[in-house]
Amino acid sequence: MAAYEEDLEARVLAALARADAAEASGAAANARAAALQMRLDANAHAAQRLLRVRFRRAPPVAISMRRATPVKWELDVTDDQGTTVPAVDVEVRCRVDGAPHPVTTTRMKERWLCSAPAAAFTDRCRVVAEPWVAGKRAGPLDVLGVAAEVRVVTGSGDDAPTFEAIRDLSFGDIQLEVVEEFGDACGSHLWNAGLVLASYVATLDETKLPDINDGGLFVEVGSGVGAASLALAARGLSGDVTDQGRVLALLERNIERNGAGELIRAVAWDVVRDEVPAWNVLGSWNVLVAADVLYSAEAAASLPGVVAALPDLREIWLAHTHRGAGDRLDATIEALSATFPVAEVVERVRDTRVVVLRRQ
Ligand SMILES: C[S@@+](CC[C@H](N)C(=O)[O-])C[C@H]1O[C@@H](n2cnc3c(N)ncnc32)[C@H](O)[C@@H]1O
Repeated sequence: MAAYEEDLEARVLAALARADAAEASGAAANARAAALQMRLDANAHAAQRLLRVRFRRAPPVAISMRRATPVKWELDVTDDQGTTVPAVDVEVRCRVDGAPHPVTTTRMKERWLCSAPAAAFTDRCRVVAEPWVAGKRAGPLDVLGVAAEVRVVTGSGDDAPTFEAIRDLSFGDIQLEVVEEFGDACGSHLWNAGLVLASYVATLDETKLPDINDGGLFVEVGSGVGAASLALAARGLSGDVTDQGRVLALLERNIERNGAGELIRAVAWDVVRDEVPAWNVLGSWNVLVAADVLYSAEAAASLPGVVAALPDLREIWLAHTHRGAGDRLDATIEALSATFPVAEVVERVRDTRVVVLRRQ
């Protein structure tokens, strides 16, 4: 870690300790604001590293294609402990088909609701929204510069996605475009663990990439929109990208959009209900990757059985966002430890890490 980062870390921890002490004496808001301001002032990079802005889901209203719909974004700002920080200015800067467009930002308790009226949009216009915090542009995840483009799309039925967002993900030389849908399916938008895993594989040193080109494949389970597998494909690796249900169509779109169809393919696999498939016909799976799949008790419980049924597996890369009490990462690691002990833990942001397990 660079010296200035260490120094900043120490200063922020001290400020947080002061904030905690102040909390006891009733001056919490001021102390937290002061700690946050210090982070923001430190430098832009560090501010992005320590402060997270999360876009909540786009509007819950169903869209009627006979009229344009209002666009709303909900944002919250959290510190590196995941605590909501209300004492900052937040705005969303919006462009519609390239032209700046006004957005109203309203504080709703500890969150910010940003909205633009329906009249601003036509049914296929491009809306680009960027969160800004205290006058500085903020990404949804610290080290990654991520912009969300939100576009109104056609749809029908109650579960039709109201919006799709196209995220431009940039990791050094690797550029990906990931389409997300803001409907009800959990896998239809990119989660922080997926983003972190994509970032991890995209930036991994060449020598650390597993040698799975020699007839071997990777398999991703619970891939959602497929960012991690797209990053693996961008590194030249081949594999099967699997998930269940409706998300498959979106996954296929993303594979096609990124021109990755020669290397990876989308396959339906419910790891709880389906057998470990005999259809890994392209070759045997040497590496299993998964991001944020342990939130499901059933999926977490099925993982050791899946692993046991894959004799050629050499490594497992689990990206995981810690979910507080009842979190399943430790239990999963324990259940796999006899055959796949932990080889490496890579912290990317405080609550999301990549754990590499290697067959012994
Ligand atoms: C929180 S999302 C994470 C998606 C993606 N990996 C990411 O990080 O952006 C969890 C994913 O696990 C998938 N999933 C849940 N249970 C599953 C199961 N039994 N079999 C296969 N996939 C499952 C969901 O469909 C969803 O795509």
